[in-house]
Parts: sequence; structure tokens; C-alpha cells
Amino acid sequence: MTTGDISKRKAAEAAIAEVTNGMLVGLGTGSTAAFAISGLGRRIAEEGLRIKAAGTSLATETAARAVGIPFLAFDDLASVDLCIDGADEIDPLFRAIKGGGGAMLREKVVASAATRMICIVDASKPVETLARPLPIEVLPFARSYVAGAVRSLGGEPIVRPGPSDQDNLLMDCDFGPIADPACLARALDAVPGLLGHGLFLSEIDALYIGDRSGVERRERHQKP
Ligand code: A5P
Repeated sequence: MTTGDISKRKAAEAAIAEVTNGMLVGLGTGSTAAFAISGLGRRIAEEGLRIKAAGTSLATETAARAVGIPFLAFDDLASVDLCIDGADEIDPLFRAIKGGGGAMLREKVVASAATRMICIVDASKPVETLARPLPIEVLPFARSYVAGAVRSLGGEPIVRPGPSDQDNLLMDCDFGPIADPACLARALDAVPGLLGHGLFLSEIDALYIGDRSGVERRERHQKP
């Protein structure tokens, strides 16, 4: 296992200690969330932990079912108790870029529906300023229009090869360092045909950062 994987697993293992009997858990997508999913499967098998879960992607559903996590369709649910998910970058104000795995549209729904959202990352993810290309999900019909809108906001969009789980297009939009994430999020939210973006500005309540030696836990005390 690489150092990054060890760190991701440490963060995930610390986060799943918050999961208790009877909880309905929202499961994130990506390599860090995968460690949380396998850890929960282990707790179900070894401790008899009684939970149910819903997922943020088809890959997550497959992984959860494979380790014996009772799985519900999210479209039947109005809320979940706890969401555990990774991030691609996160700043000191708990504002994150997500969607490296292309699942940010469902991830934002589940994170918003969660009473508590825990973000799990390795030590490479915390940054001072969000700067990596921002994933967006786009209605195929609006592909050129949305690309133009992104350019007018100062971004350079690149279309990913494959479709999203919803059969839409995914684009990574390079805005450089994002000085005002709230302003950019508002502008993107207003573009018709742009179905979702990876700026998570208010959803995350707690952050677990894993590294080789252990896990640092940070709690967000004030929601924006
Ligand atoms: C999935 O779409 C993403 O939002 C992931 O949560 C994010 O890309 C982090 O992925 P890793 O845990 O694989 O780094």
C-alpha cells in the first residue's frame, strides 16, 4: 500500500468510529471513501454493527453490497444521519473541491441531506486556496453553451471521455486559484444546463486528515 493509501485508510477508519447502531449512512465515492466502505463491512461482520446505507455512485453501491452493507436506494430517502466522503482539495474554511471521481452531483445531494457530513482526506488534500480544475456535470444538449459560459467566467473547460452515472457530460474547468469560491459557485449555479459542480462550500461539518503517523480531526464550529 502507498503512503497515500495508508493515510486515506487511517482517516477513513477514524471516521467510521462515529458510525453507531441504527444509523443511516451516506457513502461517498472515491479511493478514500472505499476504505470507509470496507471498514464498515468489517464492523458489520465482526461487531454485528447494524446500519443501513445509501450511496453516491454506482461504484459505491457495488462496493457496499460486496462487503455486506444493507443498501437502500437514495431516491426513497429524504435524509441520512451521517455522510462520509472524500475530497480533492479542502481549504481552512472547510470549503472543498470534489468530483475527481465524477460523482459530485449525487455527492452534493447526499451531503446536503446529511445531519452530519464528515470529509476524509490524506495530507495532500488540505490547501490554502482551492485551485485544481473544478469538475462540472453538464446536460449534453447544453454542452457548447455551458462551455461558453464557463469561459466567460474565466475557466477553461476540458470534456472528460466518459459519461456520468446519469449519462451526462463531465468537464474539468481550470479557473486557476479561486479567490472567491462563493461568487464562482453562485455564477455556476445560475447557468442553465450546468447540472452540478464540485464546489462544496457549506456541507462539511468535520474533517479527518490522515497521514503516516495518525489522524488529525478538525470540527467546523460555524456554518456559513
Ligand atoms: C468523487 O467524485 C470525488 O468527489 C471524491 O470524493 C474525490 O475525488 C476524492 O477522491 P479520492 O478519495 O479517490 O482521492
